[in-house]
Amino acid sequence: MSILVLGGAGYIGSHAVYQLIDQGEHVFVIDNLETGHKEALHPDASFYEGDIRDIDFVRSVFAKESIDAVIHFAANSLVGESMQKPLQYFDNNVYGTQVLLQAMVEAGVKHIVFSSTAATYGEPESVPIMESLPTKPTSTYGETKLTMEKMMKWTEQAHGIKYVSLRYFNVAGARGTAEIGEDHRPESHLVPIILQTALQQRKEMTIFGEDYDTPDGTCIRDYVHVEDLIDAHLLALTYLRNGGTSNIFNLGSNQGFSVKEMIQTAEKVTGKEIPVQIGKRRPGDPSTLIASSEKAKQILGWNPTRTSITKIIEDAWNWHSSHPTGYGRNDLS
Ligand code: UFG
Repeated sequence: MSILVLGGAGYIGSHAVYQLIDQGEHVFVIDNLETGHKEALHPDASFYEGDIRDIDFVRSVFAKESIDAVIHFAANSLVGESMQKPLQYFDNNVYGTQVLLQAMVEAGVKHIVFSSTAATYGEPESVPIMESLPTKPTSTYGETKLTMEKMMKWTEQAHGIKYVSLRYFNVAGARGTAEIGEDHRPESHLVPIILQTALQQRKEMTIFGEDYDTPDGTCIRDYVHVEDLIDAHLLALTYLRNGGTSNIFNLGSNQGFSVKEMIQTAEKVTGKEIPVQIGKRRPGDPSTLIASSEKAKQILGWNPTRTSITKIIEDAWNWHSSHPTGYGRNDLS
């Protein structure tokens, strides 16, 4: 049995590759290394460097290798950037998925696990967010992921490709052994920014607004450890291989923490002071996002075990403090 991981050199994709190989799976990776890192590739994964929008390239990988399932992480994923570059997001995310599905149809590959996002819900009508809530994305990014989900739905009807779409909340942390971790250029995510500030790579960090309708005025998010998140992908693969029907699941920890709580916890974990300034709200940020992941627990048997933010920040800190320049480049911009 062989798995093709698209985007396997990225933050979340690389953790998937490591955990798949830990479980004895044979793994092929496609990545164009635009945001991924060669150093994040598992040495035992076979690597094809290329772009998923290149149909000949994708066809050639399916023709050469015997692949029984695909896990698709290859997408642009920044909410802010997606508002500046909507067409790039439609091209890479939506068209890229169209090409992939076309190649899967031709190769007769019937299973796909898909990396989706809570950004498909937009500003939620209620929390915790259930999968049954309406999807009203407020960003191009969320819209492209929702479109990719819909593309899979219609493709299933015509061609029988079964999918599991996993809607992530705020993914953070790193592999427990700290061989791989988070390294985005530029970085926009809260946990790495906090830890880069602890390492004095940033003089201070900005809290984007403290006038939200939350107990301490800062935004509340649901942080999920990257290794727990990947456990759900492995369960989704098993579910599909056992004949499970196409489905959509939220992946979060069912608990919310404010930006200030994250910073205070990071100060305890690192023993460092983290200087902050209060800035304006970041456009498009909802005040509170908390998942209900009951469906994933019940149907997939998901049992996240690294749910404390202390554990998430400890593992992220082990990575950042042992790899202060990430995968090696000194400039963090
Ligand atoms: N934040 C700060 N300062 C910073 C960075 C972030 O105050 O320097 C705040 C943000 O305003 C937000 C929270 O920290 O309130 C988390 O921000 P992130 O950028 O880490 O994450 P987002 O919640 O914006 O987005 C994440 C993923 C998206 C996904 C979304 C779904 O990055 O891909 O969760 O919930 F769509």
